[in-house]
Order: sequence, then structure tokens, then C-alpha cells
Amino acid sequence: MRAPSGARPAARPGSFPAVSGLGIDLLEVERLERALERRPRLAERLFTEAEREYAESRARPVMHLAARFCAKEAVAKALGLTAWSFRDVEVVATSAAPEIRLSGSAAARAAELGVEGATVSLTHTGRLAAAVAVLR
Ligand SMILES: CC(C)(COP(=O)(O)OP(=O)(O)OC[C@H]1O[C@@H](n2cnc3c(N)ncnc32)[C@H](O)[C@@H]1OP(=O)(O)O)[C@@H](O)C(=O)NCCC(=O)NCCS
Repeated sequence: MRAPSGARPAARPGSFPAVSGLGIDLLEVERLERALERRPRLAERLFTEAEREYAESRARPVMHLAARFCAKEAVAKALGLTAWSFRDVEVVATSAAPEIRLSGSAAARAAELGVEGATVSLTHTGRLAAAVAVLR
């Protein structure tokens, strides 16, 4: 049977790269904002200096921190991490899509799983931030 006009051709088995892991996270920006206000050292515990610098360079820093928090959680879900440091998953700003740098327990788990790393996609509004992560 012919595919309807405009429809994508059926996928051939094995024609897509396998996804080794997937994670997602969603956060109310205000929740992180309140937590950071209550605990002044929290930002340093959660975010690397480069992540904080990137956020500080933007109009509403907490929005970008919230998206980074989501990215860390999404990568942790994809890796199946339980005990880990948030700083072991770093969102590295580029001129296009951000990249993920793993270290410590997150890098060890990636090696254990035999994956090269993680790719994330971030989004935020004034109210909500979210991220998805796939292992590759
Ligand atoms: C860069 C772009 C993808 C951001 O999208 P947006 O809807 O403005 O904002 P979102 O909240 O969804 O996403 C922002 C995040 O996208 C990520 N991002 C930036 N450039 C990116 C790119 N080239 N590819 C993928 N992700 C990108 C960043 O992580 C950013 O968050 P951060 O600054 O905290 O790191 C978008 O502005 C863009 O240029 N799109 C190209 C297509 C286009 O012009 N569409 C217009 C349709 S009206």
C-alpha cells in the first residue's frame, strides 16, 4: 500500500540509532528560586562556576539555572543514577545546542553502561523549565 502523500516512509528495522537511555524533568522556576533564596550555598552545590556565569549573563538567571537543574535530573534518570553530585553533570554552553560534560559518578556510570555520553534539549518559560536527555 502506498503511504499517503506527505507521510514519512515506514522506518526500516535498524535504520535508527538505538537509544541507550532516556530521561525527562520538569520544574517550576519559582520553586528553585525560593530554594536558592533560603539556602545561599545551594547554587554552588548544584551548579558549576561556568553554569552560574552563563546564567548570570542572562536577563533572568534563575530560568537558565532551572533548565540546567532539569538537564541534570534528566541525565541522572537516563543513566539510572541514585547517589550522585549535581556538579557531575555539567551543561556546557555552546553557540548552538548546549552539551553535557560528565564527571565523577556520572562518568563512571556512563562507562559502566558503555555509552559515550548524553545529549540534552532544554526549554524554559518564566514559569516552567524542562529538559530531556538521551544517552548515546
Ligand atoms: C535557539 C532556539 C532553539 C531557542 O528556542 P526558544 O523557544 O527561544 O527557547 P527555549 O526556552 O525553548 O530554549 C532555550 C534553550 O534552547 C537551547 N538552545 C539554544 N540554541 C540552540 C540550538 N541551536 N539548538 C538546540 N538548542 C538550543 C539552550 O539550551 C536554551 O536555553 P539556555 O539559554 O538556558 O541554555 C530558537 O530561538 C531558535 O533559534 N530556533 C530556530 C528556529 C526558529 O527560528 N524558529 C522560530 C519559529 S517562530
